[in-house]
Amino acid sequence: MMAPYPPKSGTRRRGNGTLFQNIITILTVIVIALLLTTFHLTQQLAHHREPALLTSPITIQKGGSANAQVRSKSKPSTRTRKTWPKLTYDPANTPSVTRSSGVYANNRVYCMVPFVWREDFYEIIMNTWGKRCDQIYFFTDSIVALDAEFVKDFVIVEDEQQYKPYWEYPEGTFPENVIFINMTRSWDGCTDNNGKPKICRHIWEKMWRSWVYVGDHHLDRAEWFCKIDYDTFFFPENLQYYVHDYKHWDPKMEHHYFGHKLYHRNGDVGLVAGPCACWSHKTMKDIADVYRNMPKGHMGPERRRCEDRDGATEEVSTSLCLRTELGVVAEEAIDDQHRDFVMLDPYENQLGWNRTKQGEWWFWKGKEKDRGQMEECCAHRPIAIHKYKFPGDHRRLEQEFYGPEGKENKDLWRMKAVNRRYVDKVRKAMGIT
Ligand SMILES: *[C@@H]1O[C@H](CO)[C@@H](O)[C@H](O)[C@H]1NC(C)=O
Ligand SMILES: *[C@@H]1O[C@H](CO)[C@@H](O)[C@H](O)[C@H]1NC(C)=O
Repeated sequence: MMAPYPPKSGTRRRGNGTLFQNIITILTVIVIALLLTTFHLTQQLAHHREPALLTSPITIQKGGSANAQVRSKSKPSTRTRKTWPKLTYDPANTPSVTRSSGVYANNRVYCMVPFVWREDFYEIIMNTWGKRCDQIYFFTDSIVALDAEFVKDFVIVEDEQQYKPYWEYPEGTFPENVIFINMTRSWDGCTDNNGKPKICRHIWEKMWRSWVYVGDHHLDRAEWFCKIDYDTFFFPENLQYYVHDYKHWDPKMEHHYFGHKLYHRNGDVGLVAGPCACWSHKTMKDIADVYRNMPKGHMGPERRRCEDRDGATEEVSTSLCLRTELGVVAEEAIDDQHRDFVMLDPYENQLGWNRTKQGEWWFWKGKEKDRGQMEECCAHRPIAIHKYKFPGDHRRLEQEFYGPEGKENKDLWRMKAVNRRYVDKVRKAMGIT
């Protein structure tokens, strides 16, 4: 989980001109009208229901430190349950402009997405960057609230009754590439700072169990394995470019653990930031073994040991195990002009980050003096860009980077000039025209 934001981050993209504002106004009116209608219907429905338990919404946060609480209006549970078609997912059948079949046959990419089940994000990922992974699996908590509402990283349910173990849902409720991870630690019994019940998250246990699953079942399916957060927009073909064309790495013979390296929490050794952390086949194989055999169940604080530990976070534990058990240290994914392949914040923001002006906040800490910044921040074959919290963001990025060049591509043509300059460099480098 990333810490809060830079002193003054860049501004969000805005359209200009009154036409745009008028459209927004009209849309707003329509949305309000729809909301009012929905509210009215909900009220009517509510009268036909059993009286609801009057508990306040339960919230969970993606990370471990639930200190904020988001409240939200309840959502009527009137959706019809969807059954998923049998997965016919095959990268060969998902044409993508940039994947040249054959060239990267020995550099296949496995996308491992830690997940809390939500249909909207599953669908948008599978229809954008996810379809370009050679393999993609969503590693999901076993206890699922199907009708939960989401506000950024928060899951909001009205009461605990909404949670059920995945096996109590009818067959076909979830797509085939959703893998549920059973944990030894209990999901209930946790409370937030206000003493309200909240779902227990066991970030580290879930992470190492997911990797053991990959090691047990999917090891021969790829040469490169990346943990990609759901709010990251990932470019699998640029990962292949990086490992094969740029670094000439051998996935079966060499250990590699790489991504955006940070130094503010782990001293000089650093760690790879969680939103996109990749490793080679060899590292995958060996770390799965480490995780299978490491001591389990420690309840105390971190003691510089590779082990299963209650309350542990993911990034520090991962880098600790790699280092102490395999001697593997994080590698920084930057190009020869010191530009990032992996961005931790939307590129629209990072293009505006001026180190001189901002000073050494955590993002810059420990990084070389000539690290790229402002418009030179970012490599032209980006591997991943993080922090797109809404499904619509992924759709927009798909249009910006992969959509048609013509004026019909509104997302591309209404961009701010500085953003458009970067996107054009990326499209050119990737051969997207
Ligand atoms: C999780 O637990 C359930 C219930 O005990 C079991 O049916 C299921 O096979 C387990 N899943 C895995 C992946 O072990
Ligand atoms: C960054 O900020 C410094 C100090 O405000 C300024 O002098 C410099 O021109 C800025 N760099 C760029 C590339 O805008």
